[in-house]
Amino acid sequence: MEIPILLPLALALLGFLCPCVTTLTPRVSFPMDSPGRRLIRFNSHDVSNTTTLLLSEDGDILYVGARDSVLALNVSHKDSIILRNKLDWSPSHEDLEQCSMKGKKMADCPNFIRVLQFLNTSHIYACGTFAFSPRCTYINTDTLTMSLKPDEGRGRCPYDPYQRNTALVVDGELYTGTVADYRGNRPVISRHLSEGKRVDLKLDDTLGWLEDPTFISSTFIPDEEKIYFFFTEVGREYDFIDKFIVSRVSQICVSDVGGQRTLQRRWTTFAKAQLLCQADHELPYNVLQDIDTLLPAEGAPVDDILFYGIFTSQWSVNSGRSAVCSFRLTDIKSVFSGNYKVLNRDTLQWSARVQEKVANPGECGLHNASDNALRFVKENFLADDSVRAVGRNLTMVSAENTYSHLTVQRVQAANGKHYTVLFLLTESGYLHKAVLLLRGAHIIEEIQVFEQPQPVRSLKLSIPKGVIYIGTSESVVKVPTANCSFYWTCAQCVLARDPFCGWDPASRVCVMVSTTNANLGQDIERGNAEEACSSVSLNHKSRFGPNKLPAASCPPGELVSVSLNEVVRLQCPAASRLSQQLWERPNSRLSSDLYLNLEDGSLSFVATPATLGHYLCLSTENGYQQTMAIYHVKQKTSPLSQTPTSYTQPRTNAIPTTQSMAKPGSGLHISVGTETHQGESKTTPSNRNTQVTTRQLGKNLTSWTKQPRQRELELRDGEALLAAQAPCYLKELVIVSLLLVLSLSLLITIFLFVITQRCNHRTAPQAATIDSDRRTPVEQEARRANVFLSKRNEQGQQSGHGSELVCNAALSGSNGHLPNTPI
Ligand SMILES: *[C@@H]1O[C@H](CO)[C@@H](O)[C@H](O)[C@H]1NC(C)=O
Ligand SMILES: *[C@@H]1O[C@H](CO)[C@@H](O)[C@H](O)[C@H]1NC(C)=O
Ligand SMILES: *[C@@H]1O[C@H](CO)[C@@H](O)[C@H](O)[C@H]1NC(C)=O
Ligand SMILES: *[C@@H]1O[C@H](CO)[C@@H](O)[C@H](O)[C@H]1NC(C)=O
Ligand SMILES: *[C@@H]1O[C@H](CO)[C@@H](O)[C@H](O)[C@H]1NC(C)=O
Ligand SMILES: *[C@@H]1O[C@H](CO)[C@@H](O)[C@H](O)[C@H]1NC(C)=O
Ligand SMILES: *[C@@H]1O[C@H](CO)[C@@H](O)[C@H](O)[C@H]1NC(C)=O
Repeated sequence: MEIPILLPLALALLGFLCPCVTTLTPRVSFPMDSPGRRLIRFNSHDVSNTTTLLLSEDGDILYVGARDSVLALNVSHKDSIILRNKLDWSPSHEDLEQCSMKGKKMADCPNFIRVLQFLNTSHIYACGTFAFSPRCTYINTDTLTMSLKPDEGRGRCPYDPYQRNTALVVDGELYTGTVADYRGNRPVISRHLSEGKRVDLKLDDTLGWLEDPTFISSTFIPDEEKIYFFFTEVGREYDFIDKFIVSRVSQICVSDVGGQRTLQRRWTTFAKAQLLCQADHELPYNVLQDIDTLLPAEGAPVDDILFYGIFTSQWSVNSGRSAVCSFRLTDIKSVFSGNYKVLNRDTLQWSARVQEKVANPGECGLHNASDNALRFVKENFLADDSVRAVGRNLTMVSAENTYSHLTVQRVQAANGKHYTVLFLLTESGYLHKAVLLLRGAHIIEEIQVFEQPQPVRSLKLSIPKGVIYIGTSESVVKVPTANCSFYWTCAQCVLARDPFCGWDPASRVCVMVSTTNANLGQDIERGNAEEACSSVSLNHKSRFGPNKLPAASCPPGELVSVSLNEVVRLQCPAASRLSQQLWERPNSRLSSDLYLNLEDGSLSFVATPATLGHYLCLSTENGYQQTMAIYHVKQKTSPLSQTPTSYTQPRTNAIPTTQSMAKPGSGLHISVGTETHQGESKTTPSNRNTQVTTRQLGKNLTSWTKQPRQRELELRDGEALLAAQAPCYLKELVIVSLLLVLSLSLLITIFLFVITQRCNHRTAPQAATIDSDRRTPVEQEARRANVFLSKRNEQGQQSGHGSELVCNAALSGSNGHLPNTPI
């Protein structure tokens, strides 16, 4: 057992432990109701707590379990959700009074629908908390009317609306995991609605088969004829830690009919095992939050079914983080067919003592087995091994987001390859769309779906319709899984790395991959826009060439009139949240004495004769550079003309420059090409993906008027700009700056040392000013390849050039070319 050994150690080290988590920034963020990602919402004043969702097979009707009602929503319309039927199902006045007399809050006494499953082609089986006295009923799917008198809901639905439960109908029988009493301390996994020779079954509760569980989910795997339940519970086998929570998978066979004498009306096929979501040498993410099943690709064996789960950690050192782990069905099966832990019935302590196997716990078809065998399975139900995550590692980990729900889809990319796409809902109300790449997860986008934290019970993905439904306290939200038309250039389309989307060079739009057979521009794994966009282009020159680019497609130049000594601030819209903005002036460097690069990407400086002229804001992402804005800062001719006016840049086309650098002595030639692409289509607010638009930004050129004294200060002092902006922090600033300069020089020294070491006889005078983002894609690729190779050591022939490539990339980086902008 690794955990018992690791845990005390890890816990002792808690104070020193800092799990290494790389930040995962969503590339694009869509705030609530932004036009690029329109949500379709259903809400109604008399409908609330719409948390339980059930989608019809054709995907046209969404059944919703709400507070005191069940709804049938027509979701087949593109732009709206229409209420088709509503069934009111609320406790009577007396029921409510009794509920509140029992000491429950009135707000928790209504009937919260918590089980909603198709029973057969004509009926839905539904259960609700019904004033802490759960009830179930049959509902006709067409008329949405209750057809029979309600059943008692004990063991099928929780009493308390805040308790989690799971329910599944297979062949007309209901399988549930819930708490079966008012107090909430009799958890049970059971079967109901069995008929004929088949009997309702439940867990034997003499031995504590469940330890204070929280049920998360259940899934039926037809080929196995098994139902898997996922839950968390107290891990009694770890008795050295108080209330150590473990995540579990458990199984039962649908063929189970209980034993004949031993285990009568009890499961004979129940077994459970721990799910382990843990990276090496780190604390486990032990608390399962949600889990979804990913069926194997067509033709692949059932054993390749994957379960993707969100896990959080019980320990505060990992609070606020969540991890995604995946588990393979074949691993779960092999753990269940292995050894089982033995419970000492006197001390209630578990041990892994190997016991002679009288039967195989978890095996289907034990109902005719001997009492001896059944007694054995009754006592041996906790698998000795844990189910390790695929790759024995986390699939993804987020330091900033607590994910609560997920759904997973396999998407075929343009090249036929399959990618796994996860939709993850954060506690704070964002839906993250992440694609799993070889080098880890990439978050394509985040969409805000609600503002206040909400109880959410279900995230329903409809793959054929390409939408996700989210049921919250207030509304049902429909989110399309992709909106390719949001990406308006080939570069944007490729940089998004969205397997759903590819660039169609014929129609020059970013389209859904599934809707076309065309040869699309797409590069999910690397996001290399330069390559993907040129390889699909029928006529490369006409799109990227210097001369034929229509002038109208550049971002329009913006004229900024200023008076001397004014502080000018130029805005630069970000191409995405992963891009880095960079300011350039033709033929001159932006010295940090005169210019201040602000955190939002804008540039601030004092207007002097030296700083008048043209400014270009470039955005670099994944080695791809595009011009986001062009400004011409001019001295005001008349003091009256205050508003900046637009003008058309004479010719601001980028000239691709190609340099061939031959390093004497190295024998290595690297061809460096830099192309600066500009917006390709006319209708391009270049920052549709951020919250602001270029046009607005362009007008937000603030010309702050300063007090004369302050202005003098600005002219004398190097720190003038900072002082002007935050005069009260001047002293602190100076100190911080000094410290910064000190540490910077130290860093530079070390860096220079490393460089000289690496490139032994070469001198690198400008190395310190390298901007790593200006590496060309070729260089980046070389560097990446180098990192990859040195890690994997697979293609030995290239790895020899590794360090040289890095040096060359670094050296040429300092040699950055300005886009050739004729003024
Ligand atoms: C997709 O994006 C385009 C462009 O931003 C926008 O006009 C359209 O409404 C979006 N569609 C959806 C369904 O979000
Ligand atoms: C949904 O609404 C559309 C248009 O109103 C209608 O044609 C369709 O039959 C409805 N679907 C169902 C299942 O009611
Ligand atoms: C579905 O189940 C209900 C309740 O048992 C029953 O009344 C109904 O006839 C069944 N419908 C079909 C099509 O079997
Ligand atoms: C179990 O025994 C019953 C009779 O006792 C028999 O009808 C049935 O076929 C047996 N089942 C199996 C799986 O052997
Ligand atoms: C585990 O995954 C992380 C990224 O999620 C990666 O950095 C790390 O190298 C992986 N560890 C192993 C042992 O593969
Ligand atoms: C029902 O929704 C309200 C908000 O509309 C929320 O405060 C309450 O917690 C919800 N109740 C349950 C049981 O989820
Ligand atoms: C730009 O100015 C407009 C009004 O002129 C304002 O609404 C907007 O918030 C400003 N944007 C920024 C980024 O300052």
